[in-house]
Amino acid sequence: MTAVSPCAQAPVTTERLILRLFTADDVEDRYAYQALPEVARFLYRPPLTREGCAESIAARAGGTPWSADGDVLLLAVCRAEDPGVVIGEVVLTLVSARARQAEIGWVFNPGYAGRGYATEAARAVVSLAFGPLGVHRVFARLDVLNTASVRVCERLGMRREAHLVDNDLDGDRWGSEYVYAVLGREWRS
Ligand SMILES: CC(C)(COP(=O)(O)OP(=O)(O)OC[C@H]1O[C@@H](n2cnc3c(N)ncnc32)[C@H](O)[C@@H]1OP(=O)(O)O)[C@@H](O)C(=O)NCCC(=O)NCCS
Repeated sequence: MTAVSPCAQAPVTTERLILRLFTADDVEDRYAYQALPEVARFLYRPPLTREGCAESIAARAGGTPWSADGDVLLLAVCRAEDPGVVIGEVVLTLVSARARQAEIGWVFNPGYAGRGYATEAARAVVSLAFGPLGVHRVFARLDVLNTASVRVCERLGMRREAHLVDNDLDGDRWGSEYVYAVLGREWRS
């Protein structure tokens, strides 16, 4: 696996966005969307508490390693015109360091939905994964009912590789998931 630190890659800029590490000042902005039941609806966990938001930001304040299974890069997404306000986040998890496999996920404030921000931010993180971070395959798992997220994957050019049926419990509901993925060589071409 690459020795490059993912933190050293931030901030990442796109046409309209800045992706940077979270700071303690971002807790309220993050809580504003992570606390919403409609945002957590397909995340297979309850909405986050304010304390949960703060703890996961604080846990990464010392930097983000990127060498062992389970290492996580969590990036706050801000609009370039409003860099102090966090509108969402993209997370990249190193699922297998040996096989250079990473899982991507995204959560955005619904107040900023429908403007292409999640797709633009995710595209930048996939490029980061296949560039400096040396990832071979990026994949996403999402509930089949999460149509907005399906559309993000498809806009990114990810391939639907699997349809898992009743593979998890979301509370007392059986959840079915899609797996979407793209390889580095496909992304570059
Ligand atoms: C998944 C999620 C991030 C998708 O948000 P989104 O707003 O639909 O996605 P984007 O920000 O990429 O916006 C895309 C939409 O903006 C539209 N759009 C408008 N202006 C645009 C522009 N200038 N550029 C690009 N797209 C634009 C696109 O056409 C698209 O609309 P469509 O999906 O109806 O076709 C959001 O629903 C969310 O946070 N959900 C809760 C958390 C979650 O479930 N995460 C996934 C777990 S696997």
